[in-house]
Amino acid sequence: MAGTSPQTRDSFGSKFGVIAAAAGSAVGLGNIWKFPYEAGKNGGGAFLMIYLVFVLLVGVSVMIAELTIGRSGQRNAIGSFKAIAPGKPWFLVGVMGIGAAFMIFAFYGAVAGWTLEYVFQSLKNGFAGKTPHELEDMYHTFISGSFRPIIWQTVFLILTAGVVIAGVKNGIEKYSKILMPLLIVIIVVLIIRSVTLDGAGEGLRFLFHPDFSKITGKTVLSALGQAFFSLSLGMGTMITYGSYINKRNNLLTSAVQVSLTDTLIAVLAGMAIFPAVFAFGINPSEGEGLVFITLPSIFQQMAGGYFFAILFFVLLAIAALTSTISLLEVIVAYFSEELKMTRKRATVIAVVVIWFLGMICSLSQGPLARFTLFGLNFWDILDFTSTRILLPLGGLFIVLFVGYAMGTKRVRAELSNEGALKARIFPLVIFLIRFVAPIAIAMVFLNAIGILKIG
Ligand code: TRP
Repeated sequence: MAGTSPQTRDSFGSKFGVIAAAAGSAVGLGNIWKFPYEAGKNGGGAFLMIYLVFVLLVGVSVMIAELTIGRSGQRNAIGSFKAIAPGKPWFLVGVMGIGAAFMIFAFYGAVAGWTLEYVFQSLKNGFAGKTPHELEDMYHTFISGSFRPIIWQTVFLILTAGVVIAGVKNGIEKYSKILMPLLIVIIVVLIIRSVTLDGAGEGLRFLFHPDFSKITGKTVLSALGQAFFSLSLGMGTMITYGSYINKRNNLLTSAVQVSLTDTLIAVLAGMAIFPAVFAFGINPSEGEGLVFITLPSIFQQMAGGYFFAILFFVLLAIAALTSTISLLEVIVAYFSEELKMTRKRATVIAVVVIWFLGMICSLSQGPLARFTLFGLNFWDILDFTSTRILLPLGGLFIVLFVGYAMGTKRVRAELSNEGALKARIFPLVIFLIRFVAPIAIAMVFLNAIGILKIG
């Protein structure tokens, strides 16, 4: 049998460590960069409400399913399927997941690199005195460059690799336990600044007061897609992390805690951003530039803005780092367990491949922008293939596997810790996993690839 035996596997040391690492994976650019601009474009409060429903009904179910596979299989995203269903093709779900990890890391790492440039710019007071138009130019000139973004991306890859090489307990868990509380402190400081600005109330109203006339089929689907990406679901991240969770920990409560933390941070990010956006009279549906163009423009008009700009971009970089760590770990766990490499070797090989793909992604924002396939550049192709195809498809097969192939007995045993826990909500969980989650995911998927047209 391939893989290391359970006794010799590295694992998380404490319950808090599990939550910090898994929430660290979930909380990322998806929460602080993407959630606010998606909410901004899709009507604020209405988007938030739908998002919450999806997290509870679909997100939590898929998260439970992934953790169950990982802790039951005691191996990486591919190995766990092989261990639970030997000789069956289910491991291909893990293969898709590893592929998705390479693709997501390639473009996600590019944006993660930008956060470092923005930390650097805020430290040297680089936004001061610039008009919104100049800030926009600054952003576009930077991301389309052939040198600077790649340097920062490389720095980010090296940081991620350093943590992953150190291991699960002494790397991932240790850093997550420091970085996640720090992230929460920073976000709270930013909220206090933001809500004490004149005119901030409008921003909170925008975020919390649902205007249902803004809801379309498209809003619903982007909320579900966003929930999936934000919770790190569909490619085996939570299978891999689940395999490091102690047999005595409660998987159901862990899944709920991680999902709620992730959602809370997205909401907190919105509370830090929208009051400031409204206080300075800016349109909330600014889109992708919200964080890199709009916010710097606000910071430089705001009392204490120099300081808050640094805090904000450090926050963004930390959030991205605990997420890239999890993307890399999915690959490294597979390489080291199934292909019998040392962690160090596995990490180096993975990072070199990602570095190469990431470089092309970065260049596709500038010098290589003309090279397209079906009108998509390299970045868009990786983004589309991974987040619109591989993640929902992976999520679908994961819930089908746990719901129908793994055997209810085995699933119940894993979730109740072999009967030690009552797991009273088990019937509800299995219902969500069997019916609600697959149907919801299938609809998003069919819409994303253009077969089903909603809204
Ligand atoms: N969830 C992270 C974010 O919100 C990104 C991420 C990390 C991810 N690992 C993942 C997304 C696995 C999908 C699958 O930024």
